[in-house]
Amino acid sequence: MAGPGAPQQEGQGGPVDPRTAERLKRRLRIINNMKRIKHKFIVASGKGGVGKSTVATNLATALAGAGHKVGLLDMDLTGPNVPTMLGVRESGVQEQDGGLVPVRVSDNLCVMSMQFLLPDPDEAIVWRGPIKMQIIGQFLGDVAWGELDYLVVDLPPGSSDEPLSVAQNIPDADGMVLVTTPQEVAVGDVRKSIKFAQKLEVPVLGVVENMAGLVVHGKAPAGGDVVLDTGADTVTATAADDGTFEAVLHVFEQGGGQRMAEQVGVPFLGSVPLDPVVNRKADRGEPFVLGESGATRDAFEAIVAKLTAGHGDADAQGS
Ligand SMILES: Nc1ncnc2c1ncn2[C@@H]1O[C@H](COP(=O)(O)OP(=O)(O)OP(=O)(O)O)[C@@H](O)[C@H]1O
Ligand SMILES: [Mg+2]
Repeated sequence: MAGPGAPQQEGQGGPVDPRTAERLKRRLRIINNMKRIKHKFIVASGKGGVGKSTVATNLATALAGAGHKVGLLDMDLTGPNVPTMLGVRESGVQEQDGGLVPVRVSDNLCVMSMQFLLPDPDEAIVWRGPIKMQIIGQFLGDVAWGELDYLVVDLPPGSSDEPLSVAQNIPDADGMVLVTTPQEVAVGDVRKSIKFAQKLEVPVLGVVENMAGLVVHGKAPAGGDVVLDTGADTVTATAADDGTFEAVLHVFEQGGGQRMAEQVGVPFLGSVPLDPVVNRKADRGEPFVLGESGATRDAFEAIVAKLTAGHGDADAQGS
């Protein structure tokens, strides 16, 4: 029985702080929306420009390519570029039954981004804190994804309020995929991201080392060896029957990402080389995982396989 000092509750005639009620309602909407999604990956990094959106876009595309039902949520509210990377030029979002309808990229891949809500995509966006929090709440609670096998969330960089609130408000996330580059494998920087995840009690699924090594292509007599010298080390590649070869040149010392992950006790998911094709394709709106196989695609597919290991075939083919 509630004593005289106990807070009054709705339905008992007492007033409820409207902000508390609003917060609870929003939380409930998020929980209800998220419980229809089997797996949630949050792609984050301590620094900007290391390839989060590239990883998130290609991860979602690869999962959809394997037959899963996938949603991609671009949570970068001030610099959304997932739609460009997917070649989606939609503007405006439809509302249905009180939910925001995500934009369909293919039969089993949908995306939601702030980009769709901006009248002028080139305009600088300045959101005040409370509005940002409201948008975050809506993007997590009101997007009508329906049943999904996977939701991939692309976070803005760093560990400020914004990425923090997003990660904090995703219940039962599988965990965070932390993206770094070789020159940033300075333990301090990744430690920051790991601390960020630990603070939120979100598991760290592992570290992706992006832009590790440079992919070069060339031609040589079929079956012949080509020796390339970076000044620091040499790489030998063998030309295929069609007279083409591919090699990865390492600008930074190899193995740094793996060593760092071991030192801080998180899984190492793999390295993706710096590949001019990745960047050109991103600018054209074509995820590189849909392109030709080679060192970059193979490396990325191995990472996807690690992230989905143990999820079972039951998740595939639109279960
Ligand atoms: N492996 C790669 N090879 C070549 N280019 C890459 C690679 N990864 C990312 N890029 C390019 O680097 C740039 C930054 O990548 P991206 O936008 O994915 O980074 P981000 O971490 O999401 O950045 P931000 O912090 O601004 O959100 C893009 O132009 C992208 O095409
Ligand atoms: Mg980004």
